[in-house]
Amino acid sequence: MMMMASLNSSCFTSLHLNERERSFGCEGVDRQSMFGVRKLCWWDKLCTEQRIPLSKQYAMRGGTGESSYAQNSSFQGMGVEIAEELLKEQIVEKLDVKQICSGSSLSFSIADFGCAAGPNTFLAVKAIIDSLELKLKSEGLQEAEYQVFFNDTASNDFNTLINSLPLGRQYYAAAVPGSFHDIVLPKGSIHCGYSSFAANWLSKAPKSVSEKGSLAWNEGLIHYPYTAEKRETIQAYSAQFGEDIESFLQARAHEFVGGGVMALVFTGVPDGAIFSQTTIGREFQLLGFCFSDMAKMGLISNEAVDSFNLPLYFPYMKELEAVIKKNGQFSIEKKEKLSIPTDGVVTEAYIRGSALRLRSALEEVITKHFGSEIIDELFSRLDKKVKECAALFSGPDAIPTTMLVLILKRN
Ligand SMILES: C[S@@+](CC[C@H](N)C(=O)[O-])C[C@H]1O[C@@H](n2cnc3c(N)ncnc32)[C@H](O)[C@@H]1O
Repeated sequence: MMMMASLNSSCFTSLHLNERERSFGCEGVDRQSMFGVRKLCWWDKLCTEQRIPLSKQYAMRGGTGESSYAQNSSFQGMGVEIAEELLKEQIVEKLDVKQICSGSSLSFSIADFGCAAGPNTFLAVKAIIDSLELKLKSEGLQEAEYQVFFNDTASNDFNTLINSLPLGRQYYAAAVPGSFHDIVLPKGSIHCGYSSFAANWLSKAPKSVSEKGSLAWNEGLIHYPYTAEKRETIQAYSAQFGEDIESFLQARAHEFVGGGVMALVFTGVPDGAIFSQTTIGREFQLLGFCFSDMAKMGLISNEAVDSFNLPLYFPYMKELEAVIKKNGQFSIEKKEKLSIPTDGVVTEAYIRGSALRLRSALEEVITKHFGSEIIDELFSRLDKKVKECAALFSGPDAIPTTMLVLILKRN
C-alpha cells in the first residue's frame, strides 16, 4: 500500500516529468475518456507556466523476459558486488551514525539512483543495510528502521521492480520516478546512496555531434568515433558528461545529510586507452557497423543514422575526480579501477550474451529514433557479427571493460 501510494503521489508531484508522462497527460486514453481532453492540453499549459523540465531519459527493457534488463544484467552485477565491498568498509569503519542521525529513534533513508527493475538494486540495498546493522551492533546501538527510495526515469518498469521486492525485507520501499539530474528527494533526507552504471547515461547526446557543419559532427556513426582523431566529437561528449555529473552532484548535495555516504559505479576507460579498445567499446563499434550495413541496404536512411547519437559516455577516472572536486560538495573517500571480469578474460558466454545485453539497455533509445521495426533485424545482425568477430575481444590490444568505483561523503 505504502509503496503504491508513494509511486502515485510521486508521479503527480515530481517536478521532473518526461516525454512519456507528458504525452500520457495530454493524449493518453485514460485522460481523454476522463476529461474529454484532446488538443486542449492542461499538462502543456502547466509545464509552460511552471517551467517543469521535460527530460528525455530512456529506460532499460522492462519485465523479466529473455531480452529484459533483469535477465541480462549479471555483468553489471559483478560491479555491484565490488562497490558493495567498498561501501561496506566505508560504513563500518567510518560512518558517524550519531552525526548523520539526529533525533531519538534511529531511522535511515537509502536511495538508489538509476535502479532499473532489478535484481542488482536489491543486492546493493541489502549490502548497505547489512553494513549499517553491523555498524550499529559494533557501537551497541539499538535497532534501526530503514526506508529505501528506488529512483529511475518515469518510463522504468517500476511494476516489475515492486513485484519483485525481496520477501522478508527489512525496509519500507518507495518508487521515485524522475531524472537524477534533478532533485528527486527532500532536502537533507538521505543518509546512504548508491548509483551503478546509471550516470553513464547523459541527459542528452551533445547537440553539436548531430549538426552538419559542426567540427563535432559525427557523420555515419551512432556513438563516438573509433579513433582518437575526431577530438571535437569526443570532447563534446566529455563536456556533456561533465555538465550532467555536475547536475547529478548538485541534486545529491541537496538531498544528502552532512556525513552521508554514496557509492558511484561507472563503466569507464582505463588511463591511456581509448573507448573503442575496450570490450564494451568494441561491442558498440560492431553495433555501429550493423547500422551502417542497414543504411547501405536501404533499410534505414543515412540521415537517420547521422542524426542519431547514443546518449552514453564512458569516462576516465581523472575526469570524474576533476568534476567531483570542482563541485566541492562531496569528498572522495575511496576510489578503485577494476577490470571486469577481474581476470580480464572475455568468455564465450559473454560473447553469446552480447546482443541481448545491449538490446536490453538500448532498445528504447533506438526505437524512439528509428521505430520498433528495425529492432529484431538490428540485434540479430549484431549477434551474428559479435560471434564472427569474437577474436576482437581477446587479441593482444583488447582491453577489458573497466569499472570505476568511487565512495563519496557529503561534506
Ligand atoms: C544500466 S542500468 C543500471 C541499473 C542498475 N543500477 C544496475 O547496476 O544494474 C542504468 C539505469 O539508469 C537509469 N537512468 C538513466 N538516466 C537516468 C536519469 N537521468 N534519471 C534516473 N535514472 C536514469 C536507466 O533508466 C537505467 O535503469
